[in-house]
Amino acid sequence: MKAIAPGKIILSGEHAVVYGKPALVMAVNRYAEAGISGNGDARVHFELVDFDENSSLTIQALRELKGRLVRNYQMFLNGELGIREVLKKPFHLFEFLFITFLDGVQIKLDRGVNIRLHSDIPVGSGMGSSAATLLSVLRGLAEYFGLDFKPDDYFNYGFEAEKLQHGRPSGVDPYVSLHGGFVRFQNKRAQKLPMPEMPFYIVNTGVPQSTTGECVAHVAEHFAHSPIWDDFEAVADEMQRALLKSDLVEVKRWVRANNRLLTTIGVVPASIQEFISHIEKSGGAAKIAGAGAIKGDRAGMVLVFADESSNELISRYGFQVMNVKGDPLGARIV
Ligand code: MEV
Repeated sequence: MKAIAPGKIILSGEHAVVYGKPALVMAVNRYAEAGISGNGDARVHFELVDFDENSSLTIQALRELKGRLVRNYQMFLNGELGIREVLKKPFHLFEFLFITFLDGVQIKLDRGVNIRLHSDIPVGSGMGSSAATLLSVLRGLAEYFGLDFKPDDYFNYGFEAEKLQHGRPSGVDPYVSLHGGFVRFQNKRAQKLPMPEMPFYIVNTGVPQSTTGECVAHVAEHFAHSPIWDDFEAVADEMQRALLKSDLVEVKRWVRANNRLLTTIGVVPASIQEFISHIEKSGGAAKIAGAGAIKGDRAGMVLVFADESSNELISRYGFQVMNVKGDPLGARIV
C-alpha cells in the first residue's frame, strides 16, 4: 500500500509565518511516497531509498530512541544543543514519528512493519521535503491500521515530528502537504484561495549550507521582536490581492518588496541577491522560496516571475529551472 504527499512553494511570508503573520503557500506536484507493508519479524524496518540507508528496530528500541530525541529537543529549547544535533540520522525523524503514532493511537503490533520512503522533492531546499515525507508516512499508517484519522490528527503528529528537524517551525509545511491547494496560512489555520493563474518559474540554486532550523534560529536571534514582521504581512496582503487579480505588474512589485525584506533579515546570500538583481534589471522579479540560507552561496528554491528572456540568465548562473504546478489534493493513498 502506498501513500503520497506533495511538497510546497512559499509565494510570500516565509519566516514571518513563524511570528504569526500570514504566508501564501502552494502545494506542488512533487511528491514524497511511503510504501507500507507487514513483515514477520516483529521489528520496524525503514528503507530510505534516496539516502541508501536502512534501519530496523524493535518497539522497545524505538521507545528508547524517542526518549533520547525528546531529551535532545528539550536541550535545544534550553539553548544547550544546536538544532542539527537533535536528530543524528535522517531516519530518526521517521522512527520518532512511527513510535509517537503507535503509542498515541494505542495499537499493539502483532507483526512487524516495513516502511519504504522515496521522494522527488529536492531535500533541504525550501520545498518542504521533510514534512511531505512525514505526511506520506502518516497517511499510509492510518490507512494500513484502518484508523479514522481527522485532519488535525495528521497535522498534530506531523508537526510534533517536524519540530525535531526544524526547531520552532510555524507548521506551514505539514499543513500544506496534508491539505494541498493554495492557501493563506496563519497560526496553524488556513484559508483556501484559488490557484494563481500566473506563470512563474522555480529555479533551483542548490542545497543551502544551513538548514531551515538554523535559519529560523538565526532570524529569531536578531529579529524576534522586530516590527519588520508587520511589513512582511503588508506585502503578503498586497501579493494576495495582486495574485487573485492576475495582475502581473503588481505581483512583481510585491515580490521585489518581499525580496528586500528577506534580504534585510539576512537569509539571502550575496550571490543569490546578485542573481535576483539581474532578474529585476531585465524587468522581472524574484525571491527565495523557503528558509533561504545564512551560510554559503546557495539558497534552495528561488521563485521567479519573468518572461523567457531570463532563461539565458538562469543558465548562465548554472541554475536549473524546475517545472511545477499546483497540487489541489494533498496527502493521499495511491
Ligand atoms: C519553511 O518552509 C518556512 C519557514 O518560514 C519556517 C517555518 O515556517 O516553519 C522559514
